[in-house]
Amino acid sequence: MKRTLIVGNWKMHLNTQQASLLVHRLDKHIKAHRNIEVVLAPSTLVLQPLSLEIDRRKFRLSAQDAFYKDEGHYTGEVSFTMLRDLAHYCIVGHSSRRIYFNEGLEQVRDKVQAAVRNEIVPILCVGETKNDRAVGETKRVIHDQLTTALSNLTTEDINEVVIAYEPVWAISTFDGEIAKPDDMQKAIAYIRSVIKDLYGEAISQAVRVLYGGSVNDHDAKAYLSLEGCDGVLVGAASLNYLQFAGIVDAAYQLQSAEKDKDHES
Ligand code: 13P
Repeated sequence: MKRTLIVGNWKMHLNTQQASLLVHRLDKHIKAHRNIEVVLAPSTLVLQPLSLEIDRRKFRLSAQDAFYKDEGHYTGEVSFTMLRDLAHYCIVGHSSRRIYFNEGLEQVRDKVQAAVRNEIVPILCVGETKNDRAVGETKRVIHDQLTTALSNLTTEDINEVVIAYEPVWAISTFDGEIAKPDDMQKAIAYIRSVIKDLYGEAISQAVRVLYGGSVNDHDAKAYLSLEGCDGVLVGAASLNYLQFAGIVDAAYQLQSAEKDKDHES
């Protein structure tokens, strides 16, 4: 059984003290489950203090972004090299970065490569905008984002990548439309088909693919039950400890139900 991945992206919220309080509350409400990986993605500033506070049996840390050069004259930037040993994961190519900071396909590719080079697992975000969708460009956009981002990775490297499908129109920051799980399933299947063309069948099944876009504790189960969906990337609901714990609980319930089914058959 693949481990279900639940990632909370806190975006530009919470200072050190607020983050610490949230972790304290999450710690009380979330149990450690063998097959569920809970990842917290606070601001870069908060990674260091949280790394000293979290119970590592329950939580892992992710950065939200980093610069693709390992070191040099890049005032204000934080490199993947600096995040080594601090963050297990790093979100790369999030729609906030692509939209607000004009990150293009090549920049995202370089960041994916820098993450892998520094032994940090990139959570590569892909997804179409509302306009792309309206003009029937969803597949082309996903295809271009994936093929460019992964273009420098070997078959071995790709095992260290997580892909998050986040249709921009479904993210609370943007339009926040509720995405139909069936449509999401088609997109996830398409992502795997692109990976299959690039790296073969076995890898396309092994790579972890997450869904993200207005996921909350009520609908998490529907997304997590989709065939081929290995977890969720949660924004707004990850700032609320009860909702986030509810999402982890939904993953646990699904896994328990699956185990029961296996025992019966
Ligand atoms: P919301 O869950 O707030 O829609 O955010 C999704 C997201 O962008 C997570 O990275």
